[in-house]
Amino acid sequence: MESTTPWTLGKPTRSPFAVPSGLSGRLAGRIMLWTNRQQELLGLLDVREGEQVLEVGYGPGGLIRLLRRTPARRICGVDPSPQMRDLAARPHRAEIAAGRIDLRLGTAERTGFADAEFDCVVSVNNVAIWPDLRAGLGEMHRVTRTGGRVLIAWHGGTRPSRIARGLVLPPDQTARIEQELRDLFSAVTRHETTTLTVWSAVR
Ligand SMILES: C[S@@+](CC[C@H](N)C(=O)[O-])C[C@H]1O[C@@H](n2cnc3c(N)ncnc32)[C@H](O)[C@@H]1O
Repeated sequence: MESTTPWTLGKPTRSPFAVPSGLSGRLAGRIMLWTNRQQELLGLLDVREGEQVLEVGYGPGGLIRLLRRTPARRICGVDPSPQMRDLAARPHRAEIAAGRIDLRLGTAERTGFADAEFDCVVSVNNVAIWPDLRAGLGEMHRVTRTGGRVLIAWHGGTRPSRIARGLVLPPDQTARIEQELRDLFSAVTRHETTTLTVWSAVR
């Protein structure tokens, strides 16, 4: 099982939800697919015809499945877990072969994509796991074109599930996310969906 040191914890975690691997990682991936409700994000993302979208930390690929139904020209993703890459890629063989979907190994801090490559960059239930918040947001800023949109979402919202209630971040940590976004982006706005607290920002 892999470990990582999230900035929100300040100590290593071996949670199978943080960097899924092995049997427990496979189970965590299935649970995320069953339980994560991310349809409401599509309205906030507002993906337009021909856009290029990047998801940071796609996990088992629940949002990739939803993005596939938008008019995006290209849907890319990075996640450090090879197991999650396999799980997320499984339903999309044809579109991966055609180049519309491109799921890579990588991290929020180091996506491997070019400057200003994306119109829209999104990360769900991922920001609190990064080892370095500033480095992750800085990388999202780098790969987003001027005028492009960034969306960061974490467990919260108006009706979080019983399990997710324990994952809601304390006010000092949500304030830090918001402040670091304001340092880098413009038009930073906070939204509450049913199960997520979401920050939208413009590069
Ligand atoms: C709780 S899961 C969420 C997955 C997916 N976004 C969802 O909502 O179903 C967290 C994911 O973040 C990935 N992850 C861990 N550290 C990361 C990092 N530094 N950068 C990007 N992704 C990371 C893990 O491999 C895992 O797939």
